[in-house]
Amino acid sequence: MLLGVNIDHVATLRQARYAGMPGAHNAEPSVTAAARAALEGGADSITLHVREDRRHMQDADAQAVRREIPLPLNLEMGATPAMLDFALRLRPDYVCLVPERRQEVTTEGGLDVAGRAEELRTLVAALTAGGSRVSMFIDPEEEQVRAAAAIGAPMVELHTGRFSNTLGDERRAETARLATAAQLAHNLGLEVHAGHGIQLSNLAELTAVPHLTELNIGHTLIARAVFTGLTAAVREMKEAIASLSW
Ligand code: PXP
Repeated sequence: MLLGVNIDHVATLRQARYAGMPGAHNAEPSVTAAARAALEGGADSITLHVREDRRHMQDADAQAVRREIPLPLNLEMGATPAMLDFALRLRPDYVCLVPERRQEVTTEGGLDVAGRAEELRTLVAALTAGGSRVSMFIDPEEEQVRAAAAIGAPMVELHTGRFSNTLGDERRAETARLATAAQLAHNLGLEVHAGHGIQLSNLAELTAVPHLTELNIGHTLIARAVFTGLTAAVREMKEAIASLSW
């Protein structure tokens, strides 16, 4: 099982302080340093979502990660002509097409591949010709899986948001839906990934979903890193303060 590490929220944190100061010498945390840390931790690829409103990742972040980090880059993007143009210049190893509504906090629901088949077929062909392998971020629904295969996408990423946000019977039903969709995707020759809301606490339940080859995980890793790193960061500052004469 491969792990794609989504580092969007490193940029979220930087933008919270430095949004109006592009390239500020003191801007932190660094997105490329985060990608290097993920590489050291064993990440198999780096995922970043360049959103239409550029609320976290900036174009320069994607370009720097592409240039400096020796890992496959997975660009998540909305299915728009402007983002196609960006992707063709960036040439990421993978592109994951996601729905994007500007007001949503994160990616809610999957892409409606069935409803936008012709438009997405053209987009997939252009991205593939540009050297990127394309996946469709979809809800675990038969219609969407079939549509993804029909338009020539080699991969799907199944949306695990509902799985992660529910418990009990609802969670079990959603796990079954994921398993059915994954089996169908596999039967249709698609590579199957999963992502959104995956945490240490729900990871084991995803072993019930067959044919998964990659998980894309972001929020929980950044959230957890705060606590695995905060004690050391405070200690470092205390030591720096104590080492000076005041
Ligand atoms: N996969 C896709 C397509 C996403 O949009 C996201 C969220 O940005 C993720 C995976 C990662 O989800 P999370 O941050 O909840 O781990």
